Order: sequence, then C-alpha cells, then structure tokens
Amino acid sequence: MQANQEAVQQADATWHDVGEPDDFPDGDVWPVLADGLPVAVFRQGEELFALYDLCTHGAAKLSDGYVENGCVECPLHQGMFDIQTGAPCKTPVTEAVRTFPVRVVAGRVEVGVTG
Ligand code: FES
Repeated sequence: MQANQEAVQQADATWHDVGEPDDFPDGDVWPVLADGLPVAVFRQGEELFALYDLCTHGAAKLSDGYVENGCVECPLHQGMFDIQTGAPCKTPVTEAVRTFPVRVVAGRVEVGVTG
C-alpha cells in the first residue's frame, strides 16, 4: 500500500480495542474480532499487522496458518500472503487479502476498520 493510501485508511478508520501488546507473540498470529469482523493480528518484532482472517482462495482462517519470512501460509492449500500488504506470496493464492491498520494507544492494541 502506498503511504498516502495508508494515511487515508487510518484517518477514516474506526478503532477497535483487541487486547494488550503481550497478547500477540512475536512471529505468531492471533485471531480477534474488530467491529464483528474476523481479523488475524501478527507481530513481527515491534510491529503489528492485521489481515482479514479468511483466505481469498477458500474457506480457511489465516489465523490457523503458519508464519514464515513475513508471510502467512494458509492451512488448507498452503497458499501464502504477505503479512504487511496482504499480497499473494505463493500460489494457489492469486487475490490479495484485506489489510487493516493497527496501532497501540495507552497500552492497548487497536485495529482500524473503514467502511
Ligand atoms: Fe487458502 Fe486454498 S483455501 S490456499
């Protein structure tokens, strides 16, 4: 995502509390609900990222997947998505998955939902 698109996405977002930073272990993925939407939250070092928690190829939760080299592997057919951008990393995935902005405010993790 381009920097200006990301800024617009964050400015328009409604923020939803999904837990504490320690709820999200480094290098792992954790499922949450944000505004009723299933979201997979990832930690990579000090950074947090969020993807819609449903593979674009089929009915599988990315939060049940395996995180490797900045990508998450879908548990059903082993397609992969970039954690930061939602872009496909490996077939059979060909369509990007929705991303959500994440921030930490006053020690709480918040996921931003637009639209
Ligand atoms: Fe995810 Fe097929 S359902 S790769």
